[in-house]
Amino acid sequence: MNKTYITTAIPYVNGSPHVGHAMDYCLADVCARYHRLVGDEVKFQVGTDEHGGKIFKKAEDLGKKVEDYVAENAEKFRDFIKKLNVSYTDFIRTTDSNHEHLCQEIWKKLEQHIYKAKYEGWYCTGCERFITDKEYEENHGVCPDHQKPYEKLEEENYYFRIADFKEQITKAITSDELLILPDFRKKEILKLVEDSPDVSISRPREQLTWGVPVPNDESQVMYVWIDALSNYITILGYPEKDISEWWPATAQFVGKDILRFHAIIWPAMLFGLGLPLPKTISSHGMILVDGQKMSKSVGNVVDPIEVIEKHGIDAFRYYFLRHVDSFADSDFTWEKFENAYSNELANDLGNLVQRLATLVSKNKIEVRENESFETPEDYKTLMEGFEFSKAFDLVWEKIQDLNKRIDNEKPWEMAKNGEVEKLENCLKGLASDLLKVSEMLSPFLPETTEKIQTIFKNPVTPPKEPLFPKQ
Ligand code: MSP
Repeated sequence: MNKTYITTAIPYVNGSPHVGHAMDYCLADVCARYHRLVGDEVKFQVGTDEHGGKIFKKAEDLGKKVEDYVAENAEKFRDFIKKLNVSYTDFIRTTDSNHEHLCQEIWKKLEQHIYKAKYEGWYCTGCERFITDKEYEENHGVCPDHQKPYEKLEEENYYFRIADFKEQITKAITSDELLILPDFRKKEILKLVEDSPDVSISRPREQLTWGVPVPNDESQVMYVWIDALSNYITILGYPEKDISEWWPATAQFVGKDILRFHAIIWPAMLFGLGLPLPKTISSHGMILVDGQKMSKSVGNVVDPIEVIEKHGIDAFRYYFLRHVDSFADSDFTWEKFENAYSNELANDLGNLVQRLATLVSKNKIEVRENESFETPEDYKTLMEGFEFSKAFDLVWEKIQDLNKRIDNEKPWEMAKNGEVEKLENCLKGLASDLLKVSEMLSPFLPETTEKIQTIFKNPVTPPKEPLFPKQ
């Protein structure tokens, strides 16, 4: 049995979850469920990133103790992940005392690549990082992601010497030893590695208290990325435990905005620690709403809980896994969502299940249960290439083909004409193919798959309610 370790980016807990956060979870969940389907044992990490200036300030503004504030929000994320029906196995919070302790051990192991220096430069408070002069010029002094002017900042920090690893990183990415997906992002990253400066990884304590203390230096706390990225291995017990059972990860899922940290700083850390690199880092695009970036000030933030409560979890998963491309930016509009719900989920799939189950049950046909099933090669290739939205298209074509087969073969006429054997073969064949399609559907729509498989157990019982009721 293969062991597969899958990870997701850990969100900052300075607000409630929004639909954008769902992408990492949904994509990683499809990957995890697919690997279980083909017989692998899966470890699946999720969690929350709880340190840093922005979170501290938000808690302060709300007049809350920061510990209480992060605990409250971590619960919201845990609840959200459960509502998304994500089959994770482990949840980590970066404020867990075990994580903090292991993170300090990781820092100590990296010490020969860390140095202290004064730095003056342009800084983005949104990205929480210093900006190169080149970026400053290219963006005309304003961060394109946060629409905030860069600030001049001078302070004493610890730095992580990325320069020590540039050659190794370039080699690993170029050779696909570390596969960066999609390919056009890999090319962007290779350019960035060359220009990548050393990264600041601490802040003076008088400026920030809310972080993991730097070992052997009371005056500094760790800042964001070493702490956050370490979660992928501290959750396995590194460095106090041998993690080779699960590490290297099979797949790490992140958004395009944080790919550079995962494809540069993270491999540098792993090289510094003498650990192997993950096999794949898959980066998804951003969810836009009506063509625009989601933002509270524009007032276009889509609340995922509202979508799930209104339309059900599989309707949510359906839209974000099929109509949102697995790699590119994609748009959410209520109109597109509602069209997909009624034309595809309710008409294509809901009707298929309803009418086939009715025909099978009315004609008292016994279906073949538990038939062994090999996942088709084209589906496998797409799933293993992380092209989930395309794999989902393929599954959907099979669902539409089944509908066409019913229309063409007209089993109701066979019943009317008393063609008993022909009818039995026809309906048995259709039911058995639907059950096979349901296996391929299971990583995407687990709840619906379970319903279909229950309906098509002998004696077949048509659902009393449509699987996707008219809204
Ligand atoms: N805390 C860091 C990640 C550390 S991982 C060691 C972080 N947090 S975040 O809350 O800003 O983002 C968490 C994830 O959500 C990232 O993968 C990010 O790309 C994703 N998304 C946030 N907004 C998004 C959209 N509008 N659309 C799609 N994904 C988005 O970065």
